[in-house]
Amino acid sequence: MKTLPQLFENNQNWVSEIIRSDPAFFQKLSQQQAPKFLWIGCSDSRVPANEIVGLLPGEMFVHRNVANIVIHSDMNCLSVIQYAVEVLKIRHIIVCGHYGCGGVKAAIENCSHGLIDNWLGHIRDIYRIRQKELMLIVDDKKRVDRLCELNVMEQVKNVGNTTFVRDAWAKGESIVIHGWIYAISNGFLKDLNFSISSTKELNELEEK
Ligand code: CO
Repeated sequence: MKTLPQLFENNQNWVSEIIRSDPAFFQKLSQQQAPKFLWIGCSDSRVPANEIVGLLPGEMFVHRNVANIVIHSDMNCLSVIQYAVEVLKIRHIIVCGHYGCGGVKAAIENCSHGLIDNWLGHIRDIYRIRQKELMLIVDDKKRVDRLCELNVMEQVKNVGNTTFVRDAWAKGESIVIHGWIYAISNGFLKDLNFSISSTKELNELEEK
């Protein structure tokens, strides 16, 4: 199929619905972008950022990749964080993982998945570092879920270690990085209580 008419029809219905509640919605949105949150989440189609937290277009800046990883040298993710912090002046950065993440699962499987194994090597590192704790979990699914949580925590620290966030903190700006996890099976979000809001807090976590 060269065209996807259903999606265009859905789009027209969506526009009508939004205009019905706010006729000037798109006009206002086209003037400026002032989101209050940056969401760093997994590309998984079952974890749609805005919908989960009930936010409209314009309310959340979003970056997604396989297994919600923040790598120190990933220009794509770093550019998003820099723009969010320095230009949009976003003060809440949310790293949101999800249970049963296929990327996390694939990272610890003993088979080849091609190119993506290089990307997922970052999760294998976390697995290796936390192996003691993880090997105590007998159930395979629960072990993957715990690794999904540990991955979020690691990525929260990685966001905190970006030069932009460190610079902002050094200037006394308040930026909070939140670690959340989403359950596809029931739709609920869970706060992992791993938020950091200063270099001091970050350093304390890294010493653990
Ligand atoms: Co995932």
